[in-house]
Amino acid sequence: MCVGLAGSVHKSEGQTEQLSLPAPLPWENRRTVPIALVAAERPQALPCFGGVALPLWTFMEGAWPPVVRIEIGDTMTARFENRLPMNQGASIHWHGIRVPNRQDGVPHLVQPIVQFGEVFQYEFAPPDTGTFFFHTHCNTAEQLGRGLLGVLIVDGDATRPFDHDMVLVARDWHVDRSEGKFGAFFSLRGAGRAGTYGNVRSINGMENPRFAVRSEGLCRLRLINADPTRIMRISIAGTDAAILALDGVAVPPFQMSTLDLAPAMRADVAIIAPREGKTVELIDLANGERVVLAGFVGTGDSIGKGRFAPEPLRGSRIPEPDLANAIPMTFRFQRTDQGGVVVEPSSEIDRIIMDSLCLSAKDFWTINGEVWPSKQGSAVPPPMATLQLGRTYRITLINESSFSHPIHVHGHTFTVLRQSRQSLPPHKADTVLLLPNETVEVAFVADNPGDWMLHCHVIEHQETGMMAYFRVS
Ligand code: C2O
Ligand code: CU
Repeated sequence: MCVGLAGSVHKSEGQTEQLSLPAPLPWENRRTVPIALVAAERPQALPCFGGVALPLWTFMEGAWPPVVRIEIGDTMTARFENRLPMNQGASIHWHGIRVPNRQDGVPHLVQPIVQFGEVFQYEFAPPDTGTFFFHTHCNTAEQLGRGLLGVLIVDGDATRPFDHDMVLVARDWHVDRSEGKFGAFFSLRGAGRAGTYGNVRSINGMENPRFAVRSEGLCRLRLINADPTRIMRISIAGTDAAILALDGVAVPPFQMSTLDLAPAMRADVAIIAPREGKTVELIDLANGERVVLAGFVGTGDSIGKGRFAPEPLRGSRIPEPDLANAIPMTFRFQRTDQGGVVVEPSSEIDRIIMDSLCLSAKDFWTINGEVWPSKQGSAVPPPMATLQLGRTYRITLINESSFSHPIHVHGHTFTVLRQSRQSLPPHKADTVLLLPNETVEVAFVADNPGDWMLHCHVIEHQETGMMAYFRVS
C-alpha cells in the first residue's frame, strides 16, 4: 500500500534501486568506540507502568531504551557482562548488522553461552549505516519481554541534516499492576497462535507520548518494533510521510500510507512537523483498531522549507544478487499437529490430549518440516542447508500456516523481490514479513562465511521450533 513519489521509478526485478541512491560514504577506518553492557535486573518505573516499578532487565544504568550511536567506519568493542538473576545464560545478537560469524551472538552455535558473572568481548565495524537494535539470544521471550535490548544507530547515511532525528521504540509490556510484577511472557496458546500480547502499549517506555518538534521542521523517525509478538500496521495521521529506509537500508523515498511493521522490523520515516500548536500522530491500524502510539506537536516559528521532498539516504554496501546465476531454494513454514492442538486448550478433552502430547517439548512450528528441538540443551542440530560462499541464492519463502511470521536472517540482508500479499517496492531487509499463506521471494549473496540463523521473530514461535540455520562455506 504505497504510492511512488514523483521521480521514483520502479525498476525491474532484482534492481533494488540502490543504484539510484547517493553512493555510500567511502570506507574509512575511524575511531574505536568502547561500550560496556552489563545485563542485570534494574527495577524502573517507566512512565507507561503507571507508577509502579517493575523488575526490568537492561544492559545499562539510566534511561530506557539505551541508544548506542556510532559512525560508519567506527569499530565498536562491546564488553558484555552477564549479571542476570536466576542463573540465566545470555549473549548479544546485533540484529541486522552483517557481522563476522563469531560476533553474531548465537549461543552454542557461534559462541559459548555467557553464564552469570562471565564476560564476553564483541568487536566489529558495522559495514552498513542505519537503524538497528541488539538483544540477547537466549530465553528471549522473557529476556526481551523484560526489556533487555538496546538501539544501535550507525550514522553516515544522511546527505543533509534533519531538523529532528528521533528513535522511537515501539513495544508492549506484560504488566500486572496489582502485583507490581510482569505477567507471563509465554503461553501455550500464544505460542500456537499469534503470540502472547502485552497489555500496555508504549513508545520509548511512555504511553502515547507527545514530542515537541519545531513547526514544519523535517523529522526523521526511526521506528523500531521491539515487541516480542505484536505486528503493527503503522500510519502517520495529519501530514505527509515518506519511507526513507527499511531495516536500516535506504530505499528511494516513497509515500507511506500504512506499513506493516512486524517484530524486529525497522522503518525510517520522514515527516514534516505540524504548524505551531498542531499535532501529527503515529498510529497503529492493525486488527481493525486505531491506537494512537505517539504525537508530534509543532512548536515555535515555522522552519518550513516549502514542498515536502525528502532527500534519499545514501545507499548501502550490500552486494546485489546475481539473479541470472542464482541457485533456487524453497523454505516452508508450517505449524505442527501439536501446535494445532494447543490453539484452544479449553475443554477437558483438549487438556487430556495435550497432556498425552507431552507439551513440555513444545514443538509447534517448523521450517522445511523440522523443528528446532526445544529440549536439545546445548546440542545443535545439523544445518538446514549448506551454501557456497559467494553464490547468489534465490529463496522462495512459503508460509503454509494461517498466522504471520516475520522471518529474520542473520549475517546477510535479503533483497525482497516479490511478495504475494504485500505491495512494497523492491527493497532490502533482514526481517521479512510473511502474511498468512503468503509466498515471498528473496535473494542474497552468501558472502559471509559461517553458521547463520534463520527464524521467526515472533519469539514464542522461534522458541517453539521455527528456527534453523544454514552454513556458508
Ligand atoms: Cu533479532 Cu536471531 O534475532
Ligand atoms: Cu512466526
